[in-house]
Amino acid sequence: MRKIVVAIDGYSSSGKSTMARQLAREVGYLYVDSGAMYRAVTLFALRHGLACKDAGVDVERLVERLPEIGVTFRLAPDGTQHTCLNGEDVEAEIRRMEVSDMVSPVAVIPEVRHRLVALQQSYGRDKGIVMDGRDIGTAVFPDAEMKVFVNASPEVRAQRRVDELRAKGEQVDYAEVYANVCERDRIDTTRKESPLRQAPDALLLDNDRLSRSEQMEWLLERFREITERD
Ligand code: DC
Repeated sequence: MRKIVVAIDGYSSSGKSTMARQLAREVGYLYVDSGAMYRAVTLFALRHGLACKDAGVDVERLVERLPEIGVTFRLAPDGTQHTCLNGEDVEAEIRRMEVSDMVSPVAVIPEVRHRLVALQQSYGRDKGIVMDGRDIGTAVFPDAEMKVFVNASPEVRAQRRVDELRAKGEQVDYAEVYANVCERDRIDTTRKESPLRQAPDALLLDNDRLSRSEQMEWLLERFREITERD
């Protein structure tokens, strides 16, 4: 069976990361959460006073300090993949609301994108990878053999995010999360540099209608069709 690149793109909280991680586990591929990489850069900016909710992002200073930012992944003892910022495990911190609120304005910066896209492409050189994000099928791996675009309504996505954050003990309110989801959609789809859009050759997966096991079944069927084709 030939090894391929699987690119999974979609809106925030559409369930694409869970789906991508599970697919990678099922087929024995490497999984990379590209959104986590943008979140790690955002955390660096927040910690160094280069970004805050009221003043926005100090683009010039953040770009200057990009060479200091190392983003890597490590396998945690429970088998899950954790994101590290300059060697420190920041997996829990990058999922917090402060980071979610600032990540889209950081992700619009072309220099940030160029640096992270180059790193993402290096991970996929030997194929056998599932990567999820916003521009994986359009900019990172335009030649990916399997591309999936995940769609779900903002209401369903906001509720999913509220449930996730509450399960981690964060006090959040649905209206605030819904506003964050809509604002991120707006920034992600309208930015100049590789905006979120469905690649013309991507398969569409509507996540409002399928259960998790139905999604997996659908993905595995498509995966087998593609890898068994010569
Ligand atoms: O998937 P996520 O919500 O963790 O992504 C966080 C942010 O990073 C999202 O608002 C947009 C940005 N992002 C991006 O611009 N390109 C990617 N490939 C992945 C994420």
